[in-house]
Amino acid sequence: QASYLPKLKFKPGRLPAKQSQPRASAFKVAVLGAAGGIGQPLGLLIKMSPLVSHLNLYDIANVKGVAADLSHCNTPSQVIGFTGASELANCLRGVDVVVIPAGVPRKPGMTREDLFNINASIVKTLVEAVANNCPDAFIHIVSNPVNSTVPIAAEVLKQKGVYDPKKLFGVTTLDVVRANTFVSRKKNLRLVDVDFPVIGGHSGITILPLLSKIKPFVVFTDEEVSELTLKVQNGGTEVVEAKAGAGSATLSMAYAAARFVESSLRALDGDSDVYECAFVQSDLTDLPFFASRVKLGRNGIEAFMSADLLNLTNYEAKALEALKPELKASIEKGMAFAQK
Ligand code: NAI
Repeated sequence: QASYLPKLKFKPGRLPAKQSQPRASAFKVAVLGAAGGIGQPLGLLIKMSPLVSHLNLYDIANVKGVAADLSHCNTPSQVIGFTGASELANCLRGVDVVVIPAGVPRKPGMTREDLFNINASIVKTLVEAVANNCPDAFIHIVSNPVNSTVPIAAEVLKQKGVYDPKKLFGVTTLDVVRANTFVSRKKNLRLVDVDFPVIGGHSGITILPLLSKIKPFVVFTDEEVSELTLKVQNGGTEVVEAKAGAGSATLSMAYAAARFVESSLRALDGDSDVYECAFVQSDLTDLPFFASRVKLGRNGIEAFMSADLLNLTNYEAKALEALKPELKASIEKGMAFAQK
């Protein structure tokens, strides 16, 4: 099970005789939208990773202070702040993983789709810069609506001739984090033992936790299945309402995004047991993009865990069919925007 905790790659006992420190960390990570509600705690969590050598923080405002602040933490990575379009290229050059949480969050009463008009352009512009400066990087899209912003990113990368579908990810880790938390609480399970995929997309009914695939084996009543599914689907809205106009999930999202970064870095570092759910280009259904569990390796997605979609319960099979029209419309909206 992939859980977010910084891991030292070498135990001291295995180090070469003269080396007293763990191996120097090697990877460069950039966060675009780094001064925001998600960006700041995400920067802090990435700063804690021993796998990171450079942490580049970009925002259109207030990012130099965030970078100065984080740079005082005594962990290995070097932190630099970049601001304004003129500094974006330097932020991205040579980067291995780019995380994009730039854009506006929801307010009460808004759906993720309502963010499209503003965030679509922001993601388009930022991904163009990624294509120009670090086309080989893993790209993690956090900005909502993820169901549309990932197809936008794919189209932009295609137009630039650098699209690698194995390296473009919509970050749905928060759905997995929430699903694991809610189910563990409900069924009194140890969090560390619980694991199951959340598939589909990242908005309302497109989020589909597959409770039938849970490890360890647990029996759910029909009522529990529908209650837990709804709770996962509405997790974001619960936070938006509790924050009452002050934004959407930021801390749990930063935690989830940091877990996905750490998993990507472990994969880049050669670990062979890295599995995460993400919204990616996919052949698993008739939709061009779909969230599922994937195996990550040095070159991005190595395999799709297609067995997760076999032997679904009636409830899950129906929910899967029900989510497809909405997800399809969001994907097409994103593609059309980028092709304009
Ligand atoms: P925020 O408003 O606190 O921060 C956004 C940051 O983006 C700000 O610092 C802003 O200056 C920056 N920004 C705006 N335009 C930019 C541009 N062109 N280039 C670089 N930076 C730019 O918002 P918050 O709470 O951090 O949320 C960010 C996004 O993440 C929203 O779209 C939100 O819906 C999404 N989100 C996604 C989740 C997921 O599970 N994928 C969960 C929660 C939020």
